Amino acid sequence: MIFLREVTKEYAAVKALRGIDLTVPDGCIYGIIGKSGAGKSTLLRIMSLLERPNRGEVFYGAERVDTLGGRELLGRRRKMGMIFQNFNLLASRNVAGNIAYPLEIAGFHKKRISERVDELLELVGIQDKRRVRLRELSGGQKQRVAIARALAADPEVLFCDEATSSLDPQTTRAILALIRELHDKLKITVVLITHQMGVIREICEEVAVLEEGSIVERGTVRSVFDAPRTEAARELVYA
Ligand SMILES: Nc1ncnc2c1ncn2[C@@H]1O[C@H](COP(=O)(O)OP(=O)(O)OP(=O)(O)O)[C@@H](O)[C@H]1O
Ligand SMILES: [Mg+2]
Repeated sequence: MIFLREVTKEYAAVKALRGIDLTVPDGCIYGIIGKSGAGKSTLLRIMSLLERPNRGEVFYGAERVDTLGGRELLGRRRKMGMIFQNFNLLASRNVAGNIAYPLEIAGFHKKRISERVDELLELVGIQDKRRVRLRELSGGQKQRVAIARALAADPEVLFCDEATSSLDPQTTRAILALIRELHDKLKITVVLITHQMGVIREICEEVAVLEEGSIVERGTVRSVFDAPRTEAARELVYA
């Protein structure tokens, strides 16, 4: 379970997050929506320990994690995977090289890395692309590489920041189906930010609506989408 208590984040005069209380249950696919600038990516960076809040606390289970540093922080971050809209892959490496990267950093043996890369390629359905260069891949295939890399070290949580936003509707559906399948198979928790409401409807169980750094509405996707109570939620859901 990921648990945030009164998390506040400020960048100079900008209050990006204003006292966020949030619980993401283990094994849940949790969606976060909100207008541009609402604070979604900031919230994700704090949950994934890329940034520290100015005030408030972040817990994974019973462990407080926002204060971790050094090896503990690295160890905790290794249990998380992240994927983004622009894939963030290494252009200088081929498909296998990208997936192997986090395993090399973690110090795995060459043989084990090679086996694991094969497993991961199969998991995301691009077994035939092992030695292919990135520029020869479609957006959907690149996102599969990014997902394989994110899952390389067997994370407990997968964070997705607009992971399907640059893909066409058909590819979006295929990637969502893959995320759903991986969630079911690997029992990972998924926290997903998107401005595509269809994505929330299709795979999320719960959703929180952010507005100007505050959560203004939350609940099951059904309850929020069938009967949005706030103007912020209505604007998004009926857009
Ligand atoms: N590193 C930073 N330095 C200064 N201001 C920042 C920084 N990161 C975010 N902000 C500000 O914090 C606010 C929230 O930004 P954030 O990127 O979290 O929004 P978002 O909901 O992800 O928006 P989008 O949908 O456009 O990605 C914005 O006003 C943004 O300008
Ligand atoms: Mg963002």
